[in-house]
Order: sequence, then structure tokens, then C-alpha cells
Amino acid sequence: MTSLSHAELDNQTVTKAYARWAPVYDLVFGAVFERGRHAAIAAAERVGGRILEVGVGTGLSLPHYSSDCRLCGVDISEPMLRKAQDRVSEFGLSNVEGLWVMDAEHLSFPDDSFDVIVAQYVITTVPNPEATLDEFARVVKPGGEIVLVSRVGAEAGLRRALEHWFAPAARKLGWRTEFSFERYARWAEQSSGMRLVERRAMPPLGHFSLIRFAKEGGTGRVRANSAPETYPAARAAIRT
Ligand SMILES: C[S@@+](CC[C@H](N)C(=O)[O-])C[C@H]1O[C@@H](n2cnc3c(N)ncnc32)[C@H](O)[C@@H]1O
Repeated sequence: MTSLSHAELDNQTVTKAYARWAPVYDLVFGAVFERGRHAAIAAAERVGGRILEVGVGTGLSLPHYSSDCRLCGVDISEPMLRKAQDRVSEFGLSNVEGLWVMDAEHLSFPDDSFDVIVAQYVITTVPNPEATLDEFARVVKPGGEIVLVSRVGAEAGLRRALEHWFAPAARKLGWRTEFSFERYARWAEQSSGMRLVERRAMPPLGHFSLIRFAKEGGTGRVRANSAPETYPAARAAIRT
């Protein structure tokens, strides 16, 4: 796997930012990102099986997966994850195996643990996006998929200039405004066994994209109820 890291954000800033966002996150970002979340869930369910949501946040998407899918969630922000745990309890989501405080770049899961890795609105918030994608590629099974919904920066023009101008303020809020699609494409090209299979524009305003990568090997589509696997050691288990 490649390691084209560009450390432009740090986890401490991001953790602080999301501790502030947690109480109001659903109100501010619930509806605006809903279509992207539903598209990612539909893509993940086409593969099915055991799904890891990285940067699961307040767990807005968890109730929308089919009950056939076994779900695990990780996030670096404990306040966000506590909201997710409340949602799991409120909806009685017995298909959620666990929620853990964990850094996306250092997942405590063995290789080939999941049929799908889903990361919605997360890749542009991590310090080292390419190293984080490497980690996703490590834990996804051969034949499985990585499904992202991510902000994609403008390639040129006024929007690109504005994104670069706003970048320092955006980092304090916990994300990047500028992030070219080229970085995703280059990562796939340079990662052995990974293939870019889809890019689809997503609202709001098409500034986001659904991006899918497939890991070669395996038997393609996986059965929904494969054997249970061991849980990882993590910094804190919100639910086990
Ligand atoms: C914009 S929110 C998206 C939350 C959720 N996926 C959604 O669709 O609403 C980004 C999430 O990624 C988490 N995050 C940021 N950096 C992370 C990292 N290095 N490891 C794990 N989670 C991270 C944040 O704490 C936050 O919950």
C-alpha cells in the first residue's frame, strides 16, 4: 500500500472541534448530508455482511442499514460516539456489534476483517488521508469495498480560490475545504490490489462525491451472515 501522507490537520484539533460539534451536530449536519449517507448505505448493502463505519459520529446512519448487516463503528471523538450509543439504545439496534473510540489511521482490527468500510464525511478531517485509506484497505476483505462520501475540492476557478482562502479557518472547525479528487485517484493507482470503481456527485451542490474502491480477490459479493469475528482492543469501548 502507498503512504503519500500530507499532515495538514492534527487529531487534537479535530477531537476538540468535534467535542464542540457533538451537542448540535445532528441539527446542523443531519439533513444536509442525508442523501449522501443514504447513497453510501445503499452501496454498502449491495456488498452486505460485516460493515465498519469509520468516523461514525453521532450514528445518524446506523438505523438506516438493513438489520441483516452487522455493524461496527469507530470514531476519535468520545462525545460524538456517546450520541451514537444513545441512538443504538433508542432504536434497539441489535445488529450493532460495537462502537469504539479509535483513530481511523490506526485501526485495532485484524487484516481482512470487514466486507465493507464506510467513511462518510471523514477522509477530509483526518491528518493523513492516504495513510488512512491504506488502513481501510488493510482491514477490508478481498472482494470487499471501501465506500466514501467526501468533499471534493474544485480543480480551478473562483470556488478553488475560495476553498484555499477558507482553509485555515476550516481546519479549526475540524475539516479541509480543499481536497482534489486527484488524490483519491492517485491513491488507488498506487495501491496494489485496490481499484477505483465509482465516483458520483452528491449534494449539497455536487461539492461532495460518493467514491467506491474495490479490493481484488475473494468471491465478489459476500453472504450477509458470515461467522462472528473477534472484537479488537481499543482505547475505550462505548459498547461491547
Ligand atoms: C463530519 S463528521 C461525519 C460524521 C458521520 N459520518 C456523519 O455522516 O454524519 C466527521 C467525523 O469523523 C470523526 N473523525 C475525525 N478524525 C478521525 C480520526 N482520525 N479517526 C476516527 N474518526 C475521526 C469526527 O470525530 C467526526 O465524528
